[in-house]
Amino acid sequence: MSNELAPQISQNVSPRAGGLDISELRIWFDTPAGPLRAVDNVSLSVRDGEIVALVGESGSGKSVTALAALKLISTPPGRFVSGSVSLNGQDILAMSEHDLESIRGTSAAMLFQNPRGSLDPSFTIEEAFLETLSLHRPEMKKAERLRYIEQGLRQVGFNDWQRIAASYPHQLSGGMCQRVSLAITFACHPSLLIADEPTTALDVGIQAKVLFLLRQLNQEHRLPILLITHDFGVVRAIAHRVVVMYAGHVQEEGDVEEVLASPQHPYTQALIRSVPDNVRDDESLYQIPGTPPNLVDPPKGCRFADRCDHVVDRCRNELPELETLSETRAVRCHLVGPEKGDA
Ligand SMILES: Nc1ncnc2c1ncn2[C@@H]1O[C@H](COP(=O)(O)OP(=O)(O)O)[C@@H](O)[C@H]1O
Ligand SMILES: [Mg+2]
Repeated sequence: MSNELAPQISQNVSPRAGGLDISELRIWFDTPAGPLRAVDNVSLSVRDGEIVALVGESGSGKSVTALAALKLISTPPGRFVSGSVSLNGQDILAMSEHDLESIRGTSAAMLFQNPRGSLDPSFTIEEAFLETLSLHRPEMKKAERLRYIEQGLRQVGFNDWQRIAASYPHQLSGGMCQRVSLAITFACHPSLLIADEPTTALDVGIQAKVLFLLRQLNQEHRLPILLITHDFGVVRAIAHRVVVMYAGHVQEEGDVEEVLASPQHPYTQALIRSVPDNVRDDESLYQIPGTPPNLVDPPKGCRFADRCDHVVDRCRNELPELETLSETRAVRCHLVGPEKGDA
């Protein structure tokens, strides 16, 4: 990640009734071997004006958590076992598919890792834009929609917006497609943006540009964003708050600056050490040894125990609670806490 995006963001975020609240959510997938506990008692919230990063290695349960925010899990094989999801005060899990269709894209919009996948290859960008606007902004007149397209494409940095509008997705690069997707998504005035690894498939230079745009939308419009990433460099670049997830559990959460300055959970420490920017030239990039546990038969203790440098017997036998350390900080580790000293 480029350091030009180092955090300069105000931390003054005032809570309001809106935003996203996920509480004690459990989502399992039925597999031939038994239920796979993808998301296991996860709580997280995103408030007005806030960028919250959900970070963790592949398979941690980040995408499943994000999809649950709009009840986009296929059931079966998925199963909402317990917990709740509230979006702008609405109980998402109790809503009918018909009602959900009307809020997807407006109450919360999603931006995915593969920008081409979310753009229809048979539509020009203008056609795709018009289609989305007619669905979500039916009150708009044609001339107004065209102005909107210009404004939207300019906002994501396309001064030659007419050329982009007339193009098909295959005529644009991945980064350009992602910026277009962002413009189309944002044009529907979502009250929350969920971006699932939006920069992972892009070159480093383009990554920085897309992250910059996300931060700009957040700052100018107080757009709350749930940003999913496996990369602490991305967290450092734009997020206010971070939730660290591993094997279906939240392991640590807190304000980004605080977590970066003193990560408490050994998993968070390892993730931070594996970011290229944190490695001096003479060190090779740290890789967390081992692999995540099987979530069909998870360990009874801490799910990170097998890969942890600080493991003690208790870690293998007893699941640590997610313990609150301060108003914004919580950690799930037997070795961390007010009386236990640092791990
Ligand atoms: N449709 C599905 N059927 C079975 N298992 C699934 C399904 N979707 C996700 N999973 C499993 O749920 C776990 C979490 O997946 P995911 O949320 O995609 O991880 P992440 O986004 O953190 O990489 C993984 O073990 C994954 O294999
Ligand atoms: Mg994912």
